[in-house]
Amino acid sequence: MIDFKALAKEYGTPLYVYDFDYMSAQYTKLKEAFRGRKSIVAYAVKANSNLSVIKHFAKMGSGADCVSIGEVRRAFMAGIPAYKIIFSGVGKSDEEIREAIEKDILYINVESDAELQRVEAIARELDTKARISIRVNPNIDPQTHPYISTGLHDNKFGVDLSTAKRMYIQANNSDNLDPVGIHFHIGSQLTQLQPIREAAEIVADLIRSLEALDIELKFFDVGGGLGIKYDDEVTIEPYDYAQAILGTLTGLDLTILCEPGRFLTANAGYFVTKVLYEKQNGEKKFVVVDGAMNDLLRPSLYGAYHEIEALSDSKEEPREVDIVGPVCESGDFFAKDYALPPLKGGELLVIKSAGAYGFGMGSNYNTRGRSAEVAVENSQERLIRRRENFEDLIALETEFLED
Ligand code: LLP
Repeated sequence: MIDFKALAKEYGTPLYVYDFDYMSAQYTKLKEAFRGRKSIVAYAVKANSNLSVIKHFAKMGSGADCVSIGEVRRAFMAGIPAYKIIFSGVGKSDEEIREAIEKDILYINVESDAELQRVEAIARELDTKARISIRVNPNIDPQTHPYISTGLHDNKFGVDLSTAKRMYIQANNSDNLDPVGIHFHIGSQLTQLQPIREAAEIVADLIRSLEALDIELKFFDVGGGLGIKYDDEVTIEPYDYAQAILGTLTGLDLTILCEPGRFLTANAGYFVTKVLYEKQNGEKKFVVVDGAMNDLLRPSLYGAYHEIEALSDSKEEPREVDIVGPVCESGDFFAKDYALPPLKGGELLVIKSAGAYGFGMGSNYNTRGRSAEVAVENSQERLIRRRENFEDLIALETEFLED
């Protein structure tokens, strides 16, 4: 049991708290699901890019899935070996591509024909051979929120099957490209197995047709996307997930690479915020807290549900309230019409499932410093990022820099 009151007292609020033991347990569950097959779990750093979080996974043997050279640098700093780092993303700059090649990471995940030409040209300049994988867009509806769906031709990600095939042929004939993998990622917070199975089948068929052309790949990268329970979702069991994927690979000897983010960190994270006061506009009741959309954007951006627990001794009946922050936007809320008992200023709310896409999607909007982050591991707590202060927020505003 995490003592949120004690942590809030020690580190202040708003505060992110991460249960590192829960992260380990999730990692192990997924790794074991692929037992008996060569596999790499490459943690999707974007879900929670705190260096201590990445280091925690590094110590367990994880790789890293990165979407910017900044994330690649974080992965290296946190101790992930180069041969377990991959770099995806629809818009990599020349500088990013160059650094990724120089750092000799496992592969660059190429997302367009134009990008393939850039990677080849830069590898030629560097007089080397760049390992690549191609992200295939299998045109499958993942049945998730449209903002986090990525495997349809309407989405900007990856390339269609015939383009992918052409690109593999070019890469295979190039002196500067080494096609080693194939990748798909159809969306995030997936709770249905069927779209994953269908996508894997389509991609496995492409691998077979490439083998017929003597193009032998080593890595079958199935992306991330495993959904978690925010509310009453029925989620996919890692074992069933692994079986569905492995079932499509009959006759193919490939290392499985998967890139989970949310599955590993979401339910390990809590956002702790303090009640400032309650107010009422006509019939409408509000609880105003010290955290805001700049700390945890998911409710504002996606209408996402996060369970909220009040740490209150109140014995009074719950009523429906909107839980809102201090930012000057009507969209600044954590929940609407949520049942909570009457609360006093100073009492705490714990917002759950906040360990993925929480802190990382935060901002300094309204000149608000971002929260501190605390890790709890083996019942011991430690600060892994201090709270931002006013000086941090203005430190880059050049006309006011001290000489
Ligand atoms: N691999 C690729 C290529 C991805 O684009 C993503 C997520 C992942 C792996 C990790 O997906 P996960 O296992 O976490 O589902 N901000 C949104 C989620 C955006 C996900 C973007 N891509 C949210 O808060 O729900």
